[in-house]
Amino acid sequence: MIAVACDHGGYALKQEILKHLEKRGLEYRDFGCDSEAAVDYPVYARKVTDAITAGQCEKGILICGTGIGISITANKVKGIRAALCTDCFTAEATRLHNDANVLALGGRVVGPGLALKIVDTFLDTPFSNEERHKRRISMIEN
Ligand code: RB5
Repeated sequence: MIAVACDHGGYALKQEILKHLEKRGLEYRDFGCDSEAAVDYPVYARKVTDAITAGQCEKGILICGTGIGISITANKVKGIRAALCTDCFTAEATRLHNDANVLALGGRVVGPGLALKIVDTFLDTPFSNEERHKRRISMIEN
């Protein structure tokens, strides 16, 4: 199950992503927001991180205007490794190396075509499970 949320700056891109997940037959939960009316991105970041830390969802996708505020918020939560990606190389690398469990996107930064490729790359790339990466990840949190 994939947890998805956005603020107003990410709403249009979130709609594209939800359609794409549906087309792929992937299960998701949409935690809002539900329009382009201004909201506070930390509220929506926390909905997704809560779903992951509670074990209800394995991965999350968060979208705000830049992807920055929503990823900063998500990364304050123990057990969350949120990666702000603007290309497929970093989306692949953050799964292989960081075992990132949240993808952050900037709805005002990447167009829908690229964003959907980034989403696919992130969701389809497994963690490498290599010792050096496991060690480094374990050093992030104490
Ligand atoms: C909202 O205007 C904007 O600040 C927000 O979407 C995000 O870009 C914050 O980092």
